[in-house]
Amino acid sequence: MTKHPTVTPFFDDRSNTISYVVQEPDGPACAVIDAVMDINYAAGALNFDGADAIIAHITENNLTLEWIIETHVHADHLSGAPYIQDKLGGKIGIGAKITEVQDTFGKVFNEGTEFQRDGSQFDALFEDNDTYQIGAMQCFAMHTPGHTPACMVHVMGDAAFVGDTLFMPDGGSARADFPGGDAGELYDSIMRVLALPDAMRLFICHDYGPGGRAIAWETTVAEEREKNIHVGGGKTRDDFIKFRTERDAQLAMPSLIIPALQVNMRAGEIPRDDAGDMALKVPLGKL
Ligand SMILES: [Fe+2]
Repeated sequence: MTKHPTVTPFFDDRSNTISYVVQEPDGPACAVIDAVMDINYAAGALNFDGADAIIAHITENNLTLEWIIETHVHADHLSGAPYIQDKLGGKIGIGAKITEVQDTFGKVFNEGTEFQRDGSQFDALFEDNDTYQIGAMQCFAMHTPGHTPACMVHVMGDAAFVGDTLFMPDGGSARADFPGGDAGELYDSIMRVLALPDAMRLFICHDYGPGGRAIAWETTVAEEREKNIHVGGGKTRDDFIKFRTERDAQLAMPSLIIPALQVNMRAGEIPRDDAGDMALKVPLGKL
């Protein structure tokens, strides 16, 4: 029988990100998905309120943190994964194609040879269809490129964490114009997600409350297949590529893309300057 994990959402209202704690149904083991570390970019200051709320939930419920999963290298927020790992343990995992993302942005940020592009900053690199456990619950990862080359959807019992493949039905889909992104690949990845069982719960990574509705994060495969405004109701692959390409050409860069990429491609670790202090670069004209 398919397991029904307990899913607890944490909404970050600065980046409109939803992070999750996923607990196995009959035990204390849990995973964290897409934890956020806040940054006040203007002040050059970090803030851990969001990550602390996740840590408090895990400790107050006596859970055992086994995995800290990034669905992809986010461009709109910084990862809180290492901060949580320092406090609670657990393995940080991401898609194996992180190496492509590291190669691309290692060049953009002129990282030297000390920046490894082999994914070794992470504890685990998931390949397509890799399985792993959260306590007694078997989980698997699906490679879902298109938004970024390293995107993975994680299926845990009757719940799937779709990262930025899909938004809520009225939000559609994520952009596919970052380096290594591809609208056709994104469509194909979305179709794989929509081939999961109808009743599977889908948990999305971002919501912007289109039309002023309340923030939402949970839907189902059946609902997305029927109602998603970008891919539902029989829209074709060509329709999607045309729409997505035109839309993406109008979008501004996310305001935190410069700090987010430098931190997230290092599994959430903050780079250091020659004096050993935490510091970020701002390359000009390269994104
Ligand atoms: Fe993203």
